[in-house]
Amino acid sequence: MTRRGKFVVNKVSNARIIFIRDSTEAPQAQCQSTSSIPVQTGCSRRVPPPLTLTQKLEFVLTLINRLLIGFITIYLCWMSLRLDREHIPWHAVLCTLGFLCLMSEGLMAYYRGNVWTQICQRPEKARLHWMLQLCGAIIGLTGIVIKMCLEEVHFHTLHGILGLATMIVLFISLLSGLGSLYATELKSRVQPRVNKTLHNITGLITYTLAMLSMYFSFETALFNDYSLDASTYVDFRLLLEIITVIIFALSTYGPLWCLFYSRI
Ligand code: HEM
Repeated sequence: MTRRGKFVVNKVSNARIIFIRDSTEAPQAQCQSTSSIPVQTGCSRRVPPPLTLTQKLEFVLTLINRLLIGFITIYLCWMSLRLDREHIPWHAVLCTLGFLCLMSEGLMAYYRGNVWTQICQRPEKARLHWMLQLCGAIIGLTGIVIKMCLEEVHFHTLHGILGLATMIVLFISLLSGLGSLYATELKSRVQPRVNKTLHNITGLITYTLAMLSMYFSFETALFNDYSLDASTYVDFRLLLEIITVIIFALSTYGPLWCLFYSRI
């Protein structure tokens, strides 16, 4: 049986979209959908309040950021995975997936304009954040280890040195993340705010170093050899570099805002 009616935005009740049937039972249907049937969501059953203008702007920025991350990730994966199996540069694939894709998404987990976490409570956002960061770290580190096994001379370029620095600070950042996760339990020793600020700072440094390394990866011989012919033209490389800078800016304004203006 199909139900006939329309979806309307209800500004009076908490529910944002309700279904009204094309029949005389309309009032009951409306009442049912807003009160007795809870809104089912992926994270929790809390219904979010209406979006503010700033949230709408943040939503657009987050969307743009995802499109840009998707563009670089898909391009670099396509560039690498179209090669013969023995020539696939797994370092480039894994580092891009781990550091660029998952870590940026992890940073955005707390964003008010993030449509995926709109209906999540703070603990759920925190869980999503650490899971994405941990997966990103494991995948990215695997990519670096693969490269270290293949190279004879280590850390001899700016890209490599920045990658090494990323690796070192990443461990500190993961440890500080643990401290931040158990901030309440540790409050007799360290103030939770201090703990969380420390994690915010180390996390930001890790992400900055990773994005710098990513930026300089477009100058490596590997990128020049395997990328489209267009990459030999400065324009395309410049485009990817500019996109990396924009992704960095759009992914870090949240933690930076927390650091300078509000409680974490
Ligand atoms: C954020 C992402 C990345 C990080 C953290 C990273 C990290 C590193 C590190 C630590 C090394 C040094 C390995 C060694 O010398 O033993 C390295 C080398 C290298 N990476 Fe990456 N990498 C990233 C992304 C990429 C991408 C996307 C490409 C290719 C397009 C790439 C291409 C290379 C090449 C060709 C080398 C060897 C030459 C050199 O050291 O510059 N990397 N990378």
